[in-house]
Amino acid sequence: MKKYIVGISGASGTIIGISLVREILKSSEVHLIITDEALSILKTETGINWIGCPEEQIISFYQTDRLFLHSHTDFYCPVASGSFKTDGMFVVPCSMKTLAAIANGYGSSLIERAADVTLKEGRRLLLSPREMPFSAIHLENMLKLSRLGVIIAPPVPAFYYGPKSLEDMLSFYCGKMLDAMGIDNELFKRWGGNRTNALRRV
Ligand SMILES: Cc1cc2nc3c(=O)[nH]c(=O)nc-3n(C[C@H](O)[C@H](O)[C@H](O)COP(=O)(O)O)c2cc1C
Repeated sequence: MKKYIVGISGASGTIIGISLVREILKSSEVHLIITDEALSILKTETGINWIGCPEEQIISFYQTDRLFLHSHTDFYCPVASGSFKTDGMFVVPCSMKTLAAIANGYGSSLIERAADVTLKEGRRLLLSPREMPFSAIHLENMLKLSRLGVIIAPPVPAFYYGPKSLEDMLSFYCGKMLDAMGIDNELFKRWGGNRTNALRRV
């Protein structure tokens, strides 16, 4: 079974990371790290309160035996080492602080360390930076990482598939991120070309 690390850092949209974990768990093992700031934002934005709650509560939320939770301050855990093999890592959402740390090899949280390890081992890394607007510093950090092969996949909405709800948008974001990492999914309606529209344009 494939094995992925998922980091949820303190940017708006932590619910996207929470939803993504559910989708990856359908086919793979997940090693999840959530920062303190992310837990606080999750509570503010969704009402889900996982601050200081026991690990079992989060695992029972997903009803799985494929999920492993790691404290963002635990550098002794397996994902802090390149000798622990994984198929890649997602950071969703990725704060500008975590982005800057990863772009500069500064591993002060377990997410940052695990991302650094993922990079040095040449494994797949996807970041979903969330800020609006981006400064030149943010963009330079993203460009630097993109040039190293990191997938930069911010949660940018699309409208061609006719989203009607937040659920539709979450499915689209998660589906696109899974696509980018080569994980099969049927989370959103794909563009198949619409003959009628094509004719209407002529
Ligand atoms: C409600 C709230 C929303 C935030 N949203 C963002 C955001 O969208 N992007 C961002 O880069 N930082 C955001 N921040 C600031 C980060 O949480 C802060 O920089 C923090 O140090 C990030 O730490 P972490 O990446 O280790 O979780 C937000 C903070 C709060 C309280």
